Amino acid sequence: MTHQDIRKKYVDYFIRHGHKEIPSSPLVPENDPTTLFTSSGMQPLIPYLLGEPHPLGKRLVNSQKSFRSQDIEEVGDNRHTTFFEMLGNWSLGDYFKEEQLLWFYEFLTKELSLPKEKLYISVFEGNKDVPKDTESYNIWKKLGIPGNHIFFYGVKKNWWSRSGVPEAMPPGEPGGPDSEVFFEFTEVKHESQFGEKCHPNCDCGRFLEIGNSVFMQYQKQEDGTLKELPKKNVDFGGGLERLVAATENEPDIFKSSTFKKVIERIQDTTAKQYSDEKNKHSMRIIADHIRASVFLIADGVVPNNKTQGYVLRRLLRRAAVKMHDLQEKTNEADFESISEAIIETYKDVYFQEQSIKKITEIIGLEIFKFSQTLDRALKQFEKLSSSELNGLNAFNFLQSYGFPYELFVERSNQRGYPLNDTERVSFENAQEAHKKLSQTLAAKLFKGGLADQSEMTTKLHTATHLLQQALRTTLGDQVRQKGSHITAERLRFDFTHPKKLTEDEIKRIEDLVNEKIKANLSVKMQVMPLLDAIKEGALTVPQANYPEKVKVYSMGNFSKEVCGGPHVDFTRTLGSFKIVKEEGVSANTRRVYAVLN
Ligand code: ALA
Repeated sequence: MTHQDIRKKYVDYFIRHGHKEIPSSPLVPENDPTTLFTSSGMQPLIPYLLGEPHPLGKRLVNSQKSFRSQDIEEVGDNRHTTFFEMLGNWSLGDYFKEEQLLWFYEFLTKELSLPKEKLYISVFEGNKDVPKDTESYNIWKKLGIPGNHIFFYGVKKNWWSRSGVPEAMPPGEPGGPDSEVFFEFTEVKHESQFGEKCHPNCDCGRFLEIGNSVFMQYQKQEDGTLKELPKKNVDFGGGLERLVAATENEPDIFKSSTFKKVIERIQDTTAKQYSDEKNKHSMRIIADHIRASVFLIADGVVPNNKTQGYVLRRLLRRAAVKMHDLQEKTNEADFESISEAIIETYKDVYFQEQSIKKITEIIGLEIFKFSQTLDRALKQFEKLSSSELNGLNAFNFLQSYGFPYELFVERSNQRGYPLNDTERVSFENAQEAHKKLSQTLAAKLFKGGLADQSEMTTKLHTATHLLQQALRTTLGDQVRQKGSHITAERLRFDFTHPKKLTEDEIKRIEDLVNEKIKANLSVKMQVMPLLDAIKEGALTVPQANYPEKVKVYSMGNFSKEVCGGPHVDFTRTLGSFKIVKEEGVSANTRRVYAVLN
């Protein structure tokens, strides 16, 4: 059974039991600035779990795209992923334990035909505030689960809220005891490193949690106590990828049908085998991180240095490092091809035709940028002695190679030198000091056109050079720069030209700039005497005062200008260029505004 079959069977089953299907919310929560990602099916339903009536009634079902960045470190074993689909059903103050446990059991054993001897159950053992859940225990027994397959655990395992155990819940947060179902892979042998005895919550891989029924009936109060909600809810969540693995009796979800295409593609691009133990860990991380990236980008996240965008950047850069570990190189074509395998796996369910190209392009571009420095970064890293594995060097690596802090820490760990909290503080201090310094410098150096040196303004600055040459090629060499102004959002360029640009001219100019971006020209800088620069045909701004020696930036044979910089290293990093406005400034001067996407 594929993921398509199981998703459909689940939703249909609960529709037959009176549920209404709700769509998956986006991975970036729509109206909740307190959290970066949707990490479970219940998250968009909080107001309804707290008592607000839902327009579709009291019984809901769906498959929710979910992302848990906190699980990033665990990816690499046989079952953890950052992105996953959570099958969910909810009772908003309607049915409770009896129906929920029966229905899920029936779904597993009848719809998915899982053998009931392979199912194990956990229930809440109770604590000083909340009683032992003998009710669930008895329901499971009645359904035919033998007593030796039912285990009691405390709050760490059988209590669920978004923040974990009751003590960690903030006031207002709902939560409750839960009952989990595990699938036993009898072929997996328990290893003593995971503890003397195996049991459902053991980490050896013999047991896989495939569903969690939360009896959401409490709300944390200001005074720290738990109060019963006016209505008792059920919040069920089950990982779709894990259910697929259980039906295929495959303990390694990366070998199940959900990941088949992507692992095959990774094998093809690297010419390495997944079955080879030394490749497994890296291949799992690559598969998981690219899959998560594809879904995040489809929901509007782009790699950058802020919030969700930074998490995406970390995923892609970590996958790039793992790729480098496997084959001593990383390139964007491999990443684009792996992304395509993921999109193929899901295209009947999730991706719109028109967004597919954009997703792979965004991934390719991020990998292209990082791969320029990755090789050097890793070589330099190997040269660091153990005492140099510190916060300051972590900062230098970020600064010089775009190597995220977390990757520096991970690699230090691999060499047996974990970085402690003091190093994190010194990393953060260095970053803060650098930010202040570059703000002051930027204010001093670029009072005129260029307001700061952020990534976007640098790109727009490079785009301005391409634009000036495209204007000259299209409209004639009489075009000269009259002024330029760049913000983080757009460029503005004034130039000599006697009449309004036609739509056709604007299109030709845009096309030419985009052609040069795609051609990925390298941006070269040379310092030379001003007169030589002019002799060589470098453009200057009329009336500007230049020193005797100047910097000349050139991009292939297309553009050459005297300029202070900074610029990007390769034009492809600019993405796509668009003129958004054209207007007159004076009789012989026109002005265009343009943006990069
Ligand atoms: N909300 C519950 C979970 O995420 C079902 O496990």
